[in-house]
Amino acid sequence: MSHHHHGAHGNHRHAGDSHEPNYALSQILDLDAEILDGPMSAVRVDIAALADEPVRSILDLGAGTGTGTFGLLQHFVASHAVAVDGSTDMLEHLQRRAEHLGLADRVTTLHADLDEGVPELDPVDLAWASGSLHHLADPDRSLGQVAAAIRPGGLLAIVELNGHPRFLTDGAPGAAAEAKAHALLAVDRTVDMPAMGSDWGARLARAGLVVELDRPIVVDLPPPLPDVVGTYAFAILTRIRGAVAERLGAADLDHLDQLLDGGPSDVRYRSDLYVRTERQLLIARRPASG
Ligand SMILES: C[S@@+](CC[C@H](N)C(=O)[O-])C[C@H]1O[C@@H](n2cnc3c(N)ncnc32)[C@H](O)[C@@H]1O
Repeated sequence: MSHHHHGAHGNHRHAGDSHEPNYALSQILDLDAEILDGPMSAVRVDIAALADEPVRSILDLGAGTGTGTFGLLQHFVASHAVAVDGSTDMLEHLQRRAEHLGLADRVTTLHADLDEGVPELDPVDLAWASGSLHHLADPDRSLGQVAAAIRPGGLLAIVELNGHPRFLTDGAPGAAAEAKAHALLAVDRTVDMPAMGSDWGARLARAGLVVELDRPIVVDLPPPLPDVVGTYAFAILTRIRGAVAERLGAADLDHLDQLLDGGPSDVRYRSDLYVRTERQLLIARRPASG
């Protein structure tokens, strides 16, 4: 892979330098899809167990690069999906993937800012929102509109999260710096994304939906892990560095940089990485008489 600089370059390079690849969010979402494939396929099994089959129409809210869209299209073989996102880059990426997967005729992309209203379409059998609701300005208002976009008896499945995955276990080189960076981000989020980590079950109920499943998705992958995990860790830690560099102390920043500098602690070349993250899955139904 072109971004695998060899450690023998020696000189200390910093993640923000122009030599380093700058991972777009779309690339991180695709890596996320690859690494969390197992737990996310279990999510689809849970949805199928609650859905009145066949699921024919799917609405993906904040679809990103289409991980959820494609997984659901492959699981529900008679379905068509509308993938909504506020980013044209994401939707172009999603469209390319759809063509690559042979699913282009089963997905329609729709560019829309959900904060301006959930698009009015024919009511769907299944709405899906993964990692997107906490971005919205007023998730309760949006959820009310989402509930109206589902047919009576249809489902809304959401996946929400509290933060980025962690890769370093206690005592491993860089673990303390990773932990401090996460702590700074958690403080930022109380201001930037107050809905993150909120009580989604209560929000769904306020939208008139009946929660039928609420469970954590626990990801705890121990080493040895495939090389793609190093790429994923590098991408995520590079983004985190960008957000916290100015506030980390010099020693922690140096340790964080050593995770990204091509040297022996670089996460791309290590064999001791974990992937640890927890998300929450909620599946709710629009009452048949509602
Ligand atoms: C963390 S990504 C999740 C993408 C995808 N659902 C997944 O699970 O891989 C969040 C997505 O929500 C989209 N998004 C955030 N705010 C939005 C808004 N107001 N309207 C539409 N899309 C939005 C972003 O563009 C991004 O693609």
